[in-house]
Amino acid sequence: MTTSTRAIVSLVRANGELEVAIRSQPVPTPADDEVLIRVVAAPVNPADIKLLFGGLSAEDLTVVDETVQAKLSSAQLLALSGRLDVPLPVGNEGAGLVVAAGAASAAQALLHRYVSVAAGGMFSDYRVARAADCIMLPADVSAAQGAAGWINPLTALAMVETMQREGHHALVLTAAASNLGQMLNRLCQADAIPLVNVVRSAAQVDLLRSLGAAHVCNSSDPDFDAQLVDALAATGATLAFDATGGGALAGRILRAMERALVRSGQGYSRYGSTTLKQLYFFGGLDPSPVVFERDFGMAWAMGGWLLQPRLATFGADRVAAFKRRVAADLLTIFKADVDGIMPLSGLLSPAHFTTFMQLKTGGKMLVSPALG
Ligand SMILES: NC(=O)c1ccc[n+]([C@@H]2O[C@H](COP(=O)([O-])OP(=O)(O)OC[C@H]3O[C@@H](n4cnc5c(N)ncnc54)[C@H](OP(=O)(O)O)[C@@H]3O)[C@@H](O)[C@H]2O)c1
Repeated sequence: MTTSTRAIVSLVRANGELEVAIRSQPVPTPADDEVLIRVVAAPVNPADIKLLFGGLSAEDLTVVDETVQAKLSSAQLLALSGRLDVPLPVGNEGAGLVVAAGAASAAQALLHRYVSVAAGGMFSDYRVARAADCIMLPADVSAAQGAAGWINPLTALAMVETMQREGHHALVLTAAASNLGQMLNRLCQADAIPLVNVVRSAAQVDLLRSLGAAHVCNSSDPDFDAQLVDALAATGATLAFDATGGGALAGRILRAMERALVRSGQGYSRYGSTTLKQLYFFGGLDPSPVVFERDFGMAWAMGGWLLQPRLATFGADRVAAFKRRVAADLLTIFKADVDGIMPLSGLLSPAHFTTFMQLKTGGKMLVSPALG
């Protein structure tokens, strides 16, 4: 086996220069409870694009000698002040073959098996990960099929778990035609959980309806607020997960929840309904500031929601049960939509920027280090 591994590394210097390139490093040796994975495929997720290019768009980037370069403004630099002069490996999740394993039995059990994992730094030839964090792929699932088989599947399951633990009975999801949204739709249909989908185009309404979604509201329609109140009244959803994280959408959802609760016959109070309306931001697809009129009573909350810290609160047994379900349903409920596959150098190629930086509804681009 080779002794060095290539990895995509993103660096923001204190002088405002961004640099993204392939760097070679020694292949790491797994500790007792770790495995060494030869990465076969890793998806480019929205969070990876942000880490790679610091939130800049394709037009801001130039490529010189297979190195992406850009200059950040002082405001952009301030937002990234926590990562200055620290080279960051990129690629949240991916799948590959376990080629070496530590002495622990959990690690040895994965030797020569294909696994998916969200270990970070997956845009590389080799990556070590804790055996306990891996999902062993079933024999009929290829590494390409399992590449996006960790973060979004576990996010869908963790959203439902959050709903149950926090005493809600139905969910709202924005950007609901996304890969994650389609998984959550299939999961909620399988588990009979009412789900209100918020999308921003008629094409996305049609897509989700074709997947069997009962409630789909289009934020571009003039009667969106009325659509939302009707769907919330029908489902009783008082918990929303907002992937946009910007603009007026969050406030409109909380206001619609309040109106649906009033419609449900709670007596009048000048302080609004007494039922907690909870909205979690879990993505940043819309970089504009969050704006809202506070016209939804006093029982409400907005906060952030992130997968890994949530999983930590659920406990190892529950997370292990999630992983078993993901493995069993990877080709059905948790099937990811893949658009194409490119080598590591594709992340540094303007020809590929337009494909993988679009964040549009449809397939994900996979990175395969073995290519090229
Ligand atoms: N917090 C966590 O732990 C966590 C975990 C997993 C995923 N996420 C987040 O979940 C979201 C979906 O991820 P994914 O992998 O499923 O994405 P994806 O498949 O790449 O889909 C992106 C979706 O976002 C929509 N979109 C893009 N910009 C938008 C905007 N400004 N307003 C409304 N919709 C917009 C696109 O619709 P169009 O076709 O209309 O552009 C598309 O449907 C991402 O924000 C991701 O970061 C967060």
